[in-house]
Amino acid sequence: MTSAQTGYFISFEGIDGAGKSTHVDAFRKLMQDRYPNKEVVMTREPGGTALGEQLRNLLLDAPMNLETEALLMFAARREHMAQVIEPALASGKIVISDRFTDASFAYQGGGRGLSLAKLNDLERWVQGRPDGSLLQPNLTILFDLPGEIAEARRSKVRAPDKFEKMDLDFFERVRQEYLRRAKEDSSRFHLVDATQTPEAIWDGLKLIQIAL
Ligand SMILES: Nc1ncnc2c1ncn2[C@@H]1O[C@H](COP(=O)(O)OP(=O)(O)OP(=O)(O)O)[C@@H](O)[C@H]1O
Ligand SMILES: [Mg+2]
Repeated sequence: MTSAQTGYFISFEGIDGAGKSTHVDAFRKLMQDRYPNKEVVMTREPGGTALGEQLRNLLLDAPMNLETEALLMFAARREHMAQVIEPALASGKIVISDRFTDASFAYQGGGRGLSLAKLNDLERWVQGRPDGSLLQPNLTILFDLPGEIAEARRSKVRAPDKFEKMDLDFFERVRQEYLRRAKEDSSRFHLVDATQTPEAIWDGLKLIQIAL
């Protein structure tokens, strides 16, 4: 983070059904209660802007070439950063996003097999700063869960989107890429054992301290 940036950026990550949405709103409230003078902005990917939400509908429903999919994900992210994330951080807000770039590495890379070299290029293209550093979340909360447990949870409550129809091997590859990213940048990540009960997960989330 540059010294000009006074905000704080948190992303929630994990495979479909790992429990992100179950906890993200309570976590937003926790942050708001802890930092009453800071505005907390909730957003999500793909999406976060009017254009991004249109792209989200295409991305989650329409089958498409893998590279097209990755480019659209990062195009939506560029717009999301320019319109929402960067201005909010520059004015000192706390930004919480339900998914960010780790999801592109996990799904388009680990899941669908796009090369890490191409993903690294896109990440640098979209998140690179003039000084060569990358804008990354300050904190990424990764809900880690075996694919079969996530699938059992999802199938109880909703019809699957394009990604959720994939087989268990796909989700295991997605999970492993999330874990690889977490290992590579361990100071950014907080790992949650998402096999726990929601109450136990919440008790753990309440212990997270952010360096604001
Ligand atoms: N710890 C838990 N134990 C049991 N069930 C859970 C737990 N956490 C969430 N669930 C249930 O699992 C389902 C999926 O959870 P949720 O929607 O929060 O996942 P998600 O990570 O947001 O998934 P997606 O990426 O698809 O949005 C929901 O029905 C939720 O109630
Ligand atoms: Mg969700």
